[in-house]
Amino acid sequence: MNEKKTNSAGERLDRVPRHIAIILDGNGRWAKKRGLPRTAGHAAGAETFRKIALYCRDIGVEYLTVYAFSTENWKRPDSEVKTIMRLLDKYLREAIDTMERDGMKMRIFGDVSGLSPELRALAAETDGIADRIDGFQANICLNYGGRDEIVRAARRWAEDAAAGRADGELTEELFSRYLYSANVPDPDLLIRPGGEQRLSNFLLWQCAYAEFYFTDVLWPDFTKEELDKAIEVYRSRDRRYGGVK
Ligand code: IPE
Ligand code: IPE
Ligand code: MG
Repeated sequence: MNEKKTNSAGERLDRVPRHIAIILDGNGRWAKKRGLPRTAGHAAGAETFRKIALYCRDIGVEYLTVYAFSTENWKRPDSEVKTIMRLLDKYLREAIDTMERDGMKMRIFGDVSGLSPELRALAAETDGIADRIDGFQANICLNYGGRDEIVRAARRWAEDAAAGRADGELTEELFSRYLYSANVPDPDLLIRPGGEQRLSNFLLWQCAYAEFYFTDVLWPDFTKEELDKAIEVYRSRDRRYGGVK
């Protein structure tokens, strides 16, 4: 399926990562550099997401998972959190209207119980539509924390086991089915723009064998060409999974 895809320069892309994960970082600094409020950076970042998601779909990526709001981001000033939530609300409403047309299946990963009733309803509506779409899948991590995800999965498995609903031994494969990412293959490539070189609690379980790519480019400045560059680096990596070649 990926063989015929070309990148933004029209070059053939032979080995496109099946699943790309991105930590959307650097919005605040992008705004500060321009003398704008941090919230302007979040609005710009949302536009970049729109562009990059469609590009991923076009070049044959099957899954894109982005980190939009962490379980730790509630520590930010109230006004910033409110603006981010407002932007998410706007984004989800638009996605609900365009998902089917764009052939983009959108899923929310995270603890939706911590979100407002309005956002929760939009997330549920998004899920309902996604069930009807086949093909490219974009996962938005909202009120998401990797540790929180693992603890919740453990709790749910323990409940099922106590009630006699869990089948057999707990294995890695079975445990994975309790994560938000159930049925989604692990990311092949993890990209963090914004200059920091850390995971900040993102996809701790799933990134066991992901290839990491860090860049100083701030997320709102991220382009298709930047993504091509990351994929090029990814293609030069030797993935051994602990074995030898
Ligand atoms: C990422 O950009 C968006 C969120 C975490 C919600 P930041 O807001 O972290 O931007 P910087 O890192 O402060 O520049
Ligand atoms: C990670 O970025 C979370 C998201 C992009 C949603 P942060 O800006 O919150 O991470 P730290 O604080 O630099 O680790
Ligand atoms: Mg940041």
